[in-house]
Amino acid sequence: MTKILMVCLGNICRSPLAEGILKSKVDPSEVQVDSAGTAGYHVGSLPDPRSMDVARKHGIDIGNQECRKFTSLDFKEFDRIYVMDKSNYANVIALSKTKEEEEKVKLLLEVAELGVAEVPDPYYGGQDGFEYVYQLIDRACDQIVKDLGNGGK
Ligand code: 4NP
Repeated sequence: MTKILMVCLGNICRSPLAEGILKSKVDPSEVQVDSAGTAGYHVGSLPDPRSMDVARKHGIDIGNQECRKFTSLDFKEFDRIYVMDKSNYANVIALSKTKEEEEKVKLLLEVAELGVAEVPDPYYGGQDGFEYVYQLIDRACDQIVKDLGNGGK
């Protein structure tokens, strides 16, 4: 079993999409996926309606997710922690205590060669931004599945 955590700032826009997209591509008995935010503004909330819309448009339901905050226990629980941008990276790394914990953390887009380093925060923009974010995350997740080998569907 590989356990993967997707992390953004609010856990309502990007990381819920990343959780839903990766879950749609893997065998749940082999790969467990969760998401969290480094900030606690929206704890207990559903994903942003714009993220739910763009996911639904692509056949993925993320309406069962509930926002939670990233904690240092997540370093123990998960094998890999993918962050959306460099600010998320700094926030997560600040909570790490060992080199091993630090090494679990990667920028999501580092896994794919897309020529883009960060998944931009779409919160203050329009629906277009959510489609763009979806596409970036989708491609990175394809690469994760490829790298996992037999864990994909
Ligand atoms: P996310 O987007 O990190 O992709 O979930 C955001 C959601 C909420 C806020 C910022 C970013 N906020 O400031 O409330």
